[in-house]
Amino acid sequence: MSDELLRFRSEFPILDRTTYLISNSLGAMPRSVADAMAGYADTWATRGVRAWEERWWMLAADVGDQIGALMNAPAGSVATHPNVTTCQAVVASCFDFSGKRNKVVYSDMNFPSVMYFWEAQRARGARVHMVKTDDGITVPTERLLDAIDEETLLVPVSHVVFRSASINDAAAIVAKAHAVGAHVVLDTFQSLGTVPVDVRRLNVDFACGGVLKWLCGGPGTAYLYVRPDLARTLAPTFTGWFAHENPFGFEIGPTRYTASSYRFMNGTTPIPALEAARPGLEIVAAAGVDRIREKSVRQTAHLIALADRRGWTVNTPRDPERRGGTVSIDMPRSQEVCRDLLKRDILVDWRPKAGVRMSPHFYTLDQELDTAIAAVEEIVRS
Ligand SMILES: Cc1ncc(COP(=O)(O)O)c(C=O)c1O
Repeated sequence: MSDELLRFRSEFPILDRTTYLISNSLGAMPRSVADAMAGYADTWATRGVRAWEERWWMLAADVGDQIGALMNAPAGSVATHPNVTTCQAVVASCFDFSGKRNKVVYSDMNFPSVMYFWEAQRARGARVHMVKTDDGITVPTERLLDAIDEETLLVPVSHVVFRSASINDAAAIVAKAHAVGAHVVLDTFQSLGTVPVDVRRLNVDFACGGVLKWLCGGPGTAYLYVRPDLARTLAPTFTGWFAHENPFGFEIGPTRYTASSYRFMNGTTPIPALEAARPGLEIVAAAGVDRIREKSVRQTAHLIALADRRGWTVNTPRDPERRGGTVSIDMPRSQEVCRDLLKRDILVDWRPKAGVRMSPHFYTLDQELDTAIAAVEEIVRS
């Protein structure tokens, strides 16, 4: 079977040396990141402070638009931040928790950092309501929807669950939240780049994630989409000079907010991280998320079949419609198995209540899945 996406394989040097099944954690580095880093150093060395005016000031806007294009966000609607936890803080800073509408509804399948952040907002008056999973794999949608009521302000929820790759019903969550006047903060870290995301079709209020996993963009760049009509009404209190309408006026007093995506930013942007993010974003755009998704569904189904044949537990939804890019497989002594796989240059990870997480991406050979599973079998047997 010809696999058109494999033409991108040579762009990723680590694929020559390892079986790379860990894009749910850190996507492989495109070789052109080295040029991007050299370009950054050269710009700094030769242009000095002029680099701000010539390139760096607008870099976050350019990278935001590059990310936005992958999720059908309009130009100028995606801000960048160093990580998703900071994105949550920016969103929280737009709201007041002292009134009757101060409930925050989330799932215990959210990424822990997101949970830790919202739990800490109790000190600022947030009433936090956590909906628990029954099976450790999925979020009970009906119970989550029931918990979203007239007193709910925000619903921070993952699009794809990091532990199990279960896809949440984002459309139903947004519909219920909007019916009662609440806002959804969709964490698309584990979806964008492998599962199609369309923020306009979802009509979601906020979407955030990082570029270091499925977007192959390295650590240090996360994104925050804000629905444009909502953005105009919000005034984040976690703010700074980048959010100012006239930053170089160095005006005294309160912020006059800009209308651009920078409205949701604050201080100086991490230029090296933004430069490093660009090549991966370009490659993912060229590969096409729909094609990536098609391949991912096929390869994750193959991994599940291989695990089933060996009687191992699959902690990932079997329904392809509800499954993201990762397969979590639990086998006897799975944590040790994971360690042994790493020693053999088969790169995967292990998470409690999940097992070994394997994540093929557009650059993965079918044969690598068989190699990884055969290695697990050998390790379990020995
Ligand atoms: C769904 C999800 N959200 C958030 C994060 C990380 O959050 P942060 O960018 O704040 O480190 C991860 C993984 O690292 C994740 O899988």
